[in-house]
Amino acid sequence: MSEFDQPQLTVLFEAERIQARIRELGARITEDYAGRSPVLVIVLKGAVPFGADLLRSIDLPVTLDFIAVSSYGASTQSSGEVRLLKDLDASLKGQDVIIVEDIVDTGLTLAYLLDMFHRREAASVRVAALLDKPERRRRAVEVSYIGFTIPNEFVVGFGLDYAERYRNLPYVAILDPARQAGSPERTPGIPMSGPGFSPRQAPVG
Ligand code: IMP
Repeated sequence: MSEFDQPQLTVLFEAERIQARIRELGARITEDYAGRSPVLVIVLKGAVPFGADLLRSIDLPVTLDFIAVSSYGASTQSSGEVRLLKDLDASLKGQDVIIVEDIVDTGLTLAYLLDMFHRREAASVRVAALLDKPERRRRAVEVSYIGFTIPNEFVVGFGLDYAERYRNLPYVAILDPARQAGSPERTPGIPMSGPGFSPRQAPVG
């Protein structure tokens, strides 16, 4: 069966629509940062496709860096602990930083990164996220560049994974295992949404 066309996937944003939206965000960033050279910090792994496209739609001398963190979903760790897995290559001191994220969910990851980058004396820090899921927010974070706001659904594709799968889909889809061929009801243990849903218990991003 094709990896790109499966019954448990309901397309939310087609590839063309995502590309058009990224071009708009890139144009806005180009305007907002005119005369400056921002550093794009791509949060591994989920923001790689978004970051790669956003980067190419910004008409400025940008630089690129990568960071990896792991976080724990609200249901497993009430502390909302975030751990640094891979640090940046370069110092952010005096830099205009744009954090590039795949999705803002609880906001815990971003709150952690924003705090860390301010402590490292970045000149400015803003956030670009392909998706925003505001219903599940636990920490208030300002996201300057949002691709799409989505309801409280578990989505995959365009970098977003479920157990490391589906990152390569060129579109964003709602994952509903209940719609899998030959599967009469929702597969136990597959988190979807609501209080039991815990998107990131393992190092991903
Ligand atoms: P948070 O904002 O700290 O809760 O974490 C955001 C991270 O959780 C994202 O970078 C994703 O890796 C992951 N995540 C949140 N919601 C989803 C989803 O619907 N699908 C896939 N990953 C998700």
